[in-house]
Amino acid sequence: MEYLALTIALIIASGVMVWTVFTLISEISAVAFVPSDIKGVEKVFEQLNLKPGKVFVDLGSGDGRVAELATNKFHMKSVGYEINPWLILLSRWKYKNIEFKQQSLWKADLKAADYIFCYLSPRAVEKIARIIEKEKLKNLTIISKAFEIKSWKNKLKKKIEITNNNFFVYQI
Ligand SMILES: C[S@@+](CC[C@H](N)C(=O)[O-])C[C@H]1O[C@@H](n2cnc3c(N)ncnc32)[C@H](O)[C@@H]1O
Repeated sequence: MEYLALTIALIIASGVMVWTVFTLISEISAVAFVPSDIKGVEKVFEQLNLKPGKVFVDLGSGDGRVAELATNKFHMKSVGYEINPWLILLSRWKYKNIEFKQQSLWKADLKAADYIFCYLSPRAVEKIARIIEKEKLKNLTIISKAFEIKSWKNKLKKKIEITNNNFFVYQI
């Protein structure tokens, strides 16, 4: 009897461990902080003629520099989502007029977004595309730095290359 209880407890504990590890991996998604060259991003925004007053979301906002550019130079309302608490502290300290949320980008509220910027990974951008489709979001421009969304070839509006960096722009 004791042996059975121990076996069941071990099975449950292993299940919880596996679930925790997978959840953590998918939450953090192993995307490190690599800051964008802001001059390059600025040139991209100029080419795209981003509209003042629109809602701009940076998924994985790092130290906040892209959200800052979108607000202070292009006059949009920016929201940055960042999982790393130190980067959130730094962003809030540097850019007091911008909203930074310390939460996973997978839980971001994208309903009000007009523009989404991301500099993440091939897997992450595919997952974002699936979320956008599932939520049936419309009138949205997605700017993916470095990573093409392969499943969205038909939605690609522009590919911009600036100083060896590619920006893939999608319109839905
Ligand atoms: C390559 S950096 C880009 C930073 C910024 N967007 C830029 O272009 O300068 C990616 C950022 O995404 C953040 N990140 C990774 N996974 C995340 C997640 N699940 N939720 C929120 N942020 C995440 C990382 O901490 C990192 O700061």
